[in-house]
Amino acid sequence: MDLKQLNAFIAIADCKSFSAAATKTGLSQPTLSRLLKQLETDMGVELVDRYHRPLHLTEAGVFFYDKISTILTEIDTVTSMTQRLSAPSAALNIGFVPSVLYGLLPEVIAKLKQSNPDIEVNLKDISSYQQIEALKTGEIDVGFGRFAHQDPWIQQILLRHERYLVALPKAHALAHITEQRLIDLANNRLILYHQTHLPISTTAQPIKNTINNMATANNQSGSRHNESSNEQPSFEPVTEPLLHLFAQYGISPFMTTTVSDLQVALGLVAAGEGITLVPASLKTVRTEQIVYRRLLHENATSPIYLHSLKDFVHPKIPDLLSAIYQVYERRGITYRQQSFISQR
Ligand code: BEZ
Repeated sequence: MDLKQLNAFIAIADCKSFSAAATKTGLSQPTLSRLLKQLETDMGVELVDRYHRPLHLTEAGVFFYDKISTILTEIDTVTSMTQRLSAPSAALNIGFVPSVLYGLLPEVIAKLKQSNPDIEVNLKDISSYQQIEALKTGEIDVGFGRFAHQDPWIQQILLRHERYLVALPKAHALAHITEQRLIDLANNRLILYHQTHLPISTTAQPIKNTINNMATANNQSGSRHNESSNEQPSFEPVTEPLLHLFAQYGISPFMTTTVSDLQVALGLVAAGEGITLVPASLKTVRTEQIVYRRLLHENATSPIYLHSLKDFVHPKIPDLLSAIYQVYERRGITYRQQSFISQR
């Protein structure tokens, strides 16, 4: 069994046809057919059912495809990491989610450039989830996102928790209230914008009826929430971060609309179409139409993580981390100092 045979099998399985796989790989159809036959003969297993069109994998082929495609992706990751190890790029490629660009990222980059005047920094707007793949392929060296990721290749530092603010249209009846409660917001259309959701494991607990004064107030206002003490707790995991926050208080917003990103969500709020929650660094966006109000709840925060590969920490990352901590100190932001460990 060799890599050529395995790659031929994956291409045939992905394309479900020898001719499409030939176009994809640049190999001829007879070559692909020979590589697949060799693999099957070596293993003594038929992997592809050739008698149906489009081609089908056999049951054994489906199992083999699942396992072997993971291994081939890991081989690509290791190859790319090894190349970077032997010749680290001079440039620092940074992935970020848009909300951190509105916050301290520009200041952090400026600080990094002060101590490293010759550094070349490339910034890439990329979702939290995609950052993990981009780190593995070498597209980025470091990523700033708002979700924790459990991945054997990745290490993360929790930089800080940023408070959520509620964004309300200026004409909204609650706009004058400086400290808001989630329960009072439950009758509004909540605009959701996260592209990455929370991992199931952190949210799979039942959403119990956390009955408290807030839930009672909600009941009086007539909106829906998981409130009754007689109700069976729901075991549906709520993985959308804003809904998860509401659910922690036993509240289910009256109506939701999901949009592609944060800027669109704030556009809808500005147009009076609903409300949303955003990290505090967004508080200067569209202030002609939107007011931003604090939430009363201490846990209404959005974390900021720095992600890097475990086995290859770009040589400029320690300077980047030190620039972040200098910015925090200058602004009086509380943080717990951590460092990346290069695990080689
Ligand atoms: C922050 O807002 O804490 C932050 C944003 C981007 C990079 C580092 C820190």
